[in-house]
Amino acid sequence: MTGASRGIGRGIAIELARTHAVVGTYRGRRDAAESLKEQTGAEIFQCDVSNPAERQALIAFTQEKFGRIDLLVNNAGMAPRVRQDIMEATEESFDELIATNLKGPYFLTQLAARIMAQQGEGRIVFVTSISSYTASLNRGEYCISKAGLSMAVALWAARLAACNVKVFEVRPGIIRTDMIAAVEKTYEERIAAGLLPQRRMGEPRDIAQAVRAIADGLLDYCTGQVLNVDGGFHLRIL
Ligand SMILES: NC(=O)c1ccc[n+]([C@@H]2O[C@H](COP(=O)([O-])OP(=O)(O)OC[C@H]3O[C@@H](n4cnc5c(N)ncnc54)[C@H](OP(=O)(O)O)[C@@H]3O)[C@@H](O)[C@H]2O)c1
Repeated sequence: MTGASRGIGRGIAIELARTHAVVGTYRGRRDAAESLKEQTGAEIFQCDVSNPAERQALIAFTQEKFGRIDLLVNNAGMAPRVRQDIMEATEESFDELIATNLKGPYFLTQLAARIMAQQGEGRIVFVTSISSYTASLNRGEYCISKAGLSMAVALWAARLAACNVKVFEVRPGIIRTDMIAAVEKTYEERIAAGLLPQRRMGEPRDIAQAVRAIADGLLDYCTGQVLNVDGGFHLRIL
């Protein structure tokens, strides 16, 4: 699984390590990855998902170590380095977000899918976001990357269904991690004022529980399904 060193990915890795042999990736925070390894026994592997050679190395490492891949969790992702109104935001940031949040998981999935198709079974999870359908004008490139990722789920679910490989979208709402640290206080205030029907911020464990249900095969007849793990944010209320 990707992006296991911190935040949501770390929560998922801790949960999965109870039952699975886990390979958890990190990009720059080796310290955080090492502490995950210590805590859970998971293998750790440095992989920038936007880099094709590093994606291939990750799959080769996993195959060498375990000889199969039962579950791929595409979790690694980033917010724009600077939040900027779409009137000002740069092409550099757009390219970085698309490469990391969309192209990376799309092509990592292609590598894993070939192996799972040969195995005759497998499960794949994409961690997207409420941003795949919610316009945030100061991080348009993030919204576009996540909207594209939701389509990737549909494509891979349709392509792999006959190979007995199930594909799921887990769509987090506002989850307490480093990614939202700068705006955590504002979000807390907005949640208290009614932004979320369930009036609390999400925690990495909330996402991990959804992935647990998928990993245990409880949703195996639901390929292509979207799990909104967002405290009801997606509900339209009149
Ligand atoms: N937090 C939220 O409210 C929220 C809401 C909706 C969706 N999400 C999505 O959930 C996922 C996890 O987010 P988070 O909040 O847990 O973020 P986070 O706390 O910032 O952690 C991000 C993780 O992804 C890794 N990562 C970042 N860029 C990478 C790259 N290019 N290649 C490989 N790994 C990379 C990081 O590795 P290092 O530790 O080595 O830097 C870290 O493990 C993301 O896809 C995010 O878009 C988050």
